[in-house]
Amino acid sequence: MKEYNLTTKMKSYQWDELTDEQREVVSIAKEQTENSYCPYSGFHVGAAAKLANGVIMRGANQENAAYPSGLCAERTALFAAGAQYPEQPVTKLAIACYTDGHFTKEPGSPCGACRQVMLETEHRYDGKMEVLLYGEDATYVFESAADLLPLIFVSENLKG
Ligand code: THU
Repeated sequence: MKEYNLTTKMKSYQWDELTDEQREVVSIAKEQTENSYCPYSGFHVGAAAKLANGVIMRGANQENAAYPSGLCAERTALFAAGAQYPEQPVTKLAIACYTDGHFTKEPGSPCGACRQVMLETEHRYDGKMEVLLYGEDATYVFESAADLLPLIFVSENLKG
C-alpha cells in the first residue's frame, strides 16, 4: 500500500489587491447574478469567461422545474464561449454567488461537474485558465482550473 497526499494551491486576495483585469471579470460575474434564473434554489450565481481576444462571455445559472435540466452559471458561460468563439482560448473564469440579499461572504465553490468542464476547456486550448471565486470577505484565485481538480479525467485517459 502506498499513501499519497494530493495538494493544491490557491491565493486569497482582498479586492484592492486584484489587478484591474481581474476586477473587471469578477465585476461582470457579480453583475451577472442579476440574470440568474433560480426560482427553486434562490441561489443566484453569475459567471464571466474572458477569452484570449478580450471578449468576456457572460453566464448565470438557469434552473428548471425538472431539476437536472438546469445548468450552473460557469457552464452556461463556458459553453456559450465554445459555441460562439470556438477558436478562442478562455484565459479567465470568474464566479460570484448572491443569496438572501447579499453576495456570499465566502467564495462559492464550483460543483464537480463544472470543474470537469473547466478542465476540458483548459485541455482543449492547451493553456491555463485562471479561476476567480468572489466572496465579500476575499476572492480566491486559482492559477489553473487543474488546481481545482486533482486526478483529472481528460481525453488522454480514454486511450487506456
Ligand atoms: N450553481 C452554480 O451555478 N454553480 C456552482 O458552481 C454551484 C451551484 C447553481 C446551481 C443551482 O441553480 C444553484 O446554484 C443551487 O445549487
